[in-house]
Amino acid sequence: MADPLLEVRGLTAAYGRSQVLFGVDLEVGAGEMTSLLGRNGMGKTTTVYSIMGLVAPLEGSVRMAGRELSGQPPWRIGQAGLGLVPEARQVFPNLSTHENLIATARAPRDGAGTGSRGGDAGGWTTERVYELFPALAERRGTPGSLLSGGEQQMLSIGRALMTNPVLLILDEATEGLAPLVRREIWSCLARLKAAGQSILIIDKNIDDLTRIADRHFIIEKGRIVWSGTSGKLRASPDAIARHIGI
Ligand SMILES: Nc1ncnc2c1ncn2[C@@H]1O[C@H](COP(=O)(O)OP(=O)(O)OP(=O)(O)O)[C@@H](O)[C@H]1O
Ligand SMILES: [Mg+2]
Repeated sequence: MADPLLEVRGLTAAYGRSQVLFGVDLEVGAGEMTSLLGRNGMGKTTTVYSIMGLVAPLEGSVRMAGRELSGQPPWRIGQAGLGLVPEARQVFPNLSTHENLIATARAPRDGAGTGSRGGDAGGWTTERVYELFPALAERRGTPGSLLSGGEQQMLSIGRALMTNPVLLILDEATEGLAPLVRREIWSCLARLKAAGQSILIIDKNIDDLTRIADRHFIIEKGRIVWSGTSGKLRASPDAIARHIGI
């Protein structure tokens, strides 16, 4: 890839003495959806946490639009345009849907959603989030703790969008959700991608991922063991069976 938006090189990370990442390399192009696949416990969340600065990487580089982010605090990495939808969703339980959305709002950065990135991915408002997820509009006064799992995931995505991220990162986009809600999340992600939003996604639904995402990286025991396009992944049932176990 000529000039990736996110470029991760040789990322290593550990929890105490237990090393979990052993030199992860991956990249996301501008306007692309890239997935990170792998079995449970292989290091997907740790990779995302290391990119976001929530786990301090031991070695390696995380470059966003050519700028080095490794070693910076999470808030600065957020300012550089990375928005995370965490695995545990982390909706504020005592705040209403609307208050949750406003809590993370950030003005669009210069050039976000325009020019070379294409589309209208920037400039998020609560109204635009409610348009994307009409179910949330009906729950705008409801405390986070009383939302269903699906509504919490929509809110978590909406909250990340309110930071006007250049790169949206989703850790387990549809895990534990009912089929109908999953479908809604996938269609929302397809619309975001069509609008030019760059996305790094972790999920286990290969069929949905190969339909929407451009490229995939498979991680095994903290190392990237396979990467390729959706076409290549669909044509590689052996890689799926060996590394993802489906
Ligand atoms: N806070 C922690 N302290 C110690 N070890 C951890 C911690 N978090 C994760 N690990 C270990 O690091 C390894 C990678 O975990 P990680 O959560 O990154 O995997 P994952 O691919 O996201 O898995 P899953 O599919 O279950 O979400 C696992 O062996 C896990 O037990
Ligand atoms: Mg995980």
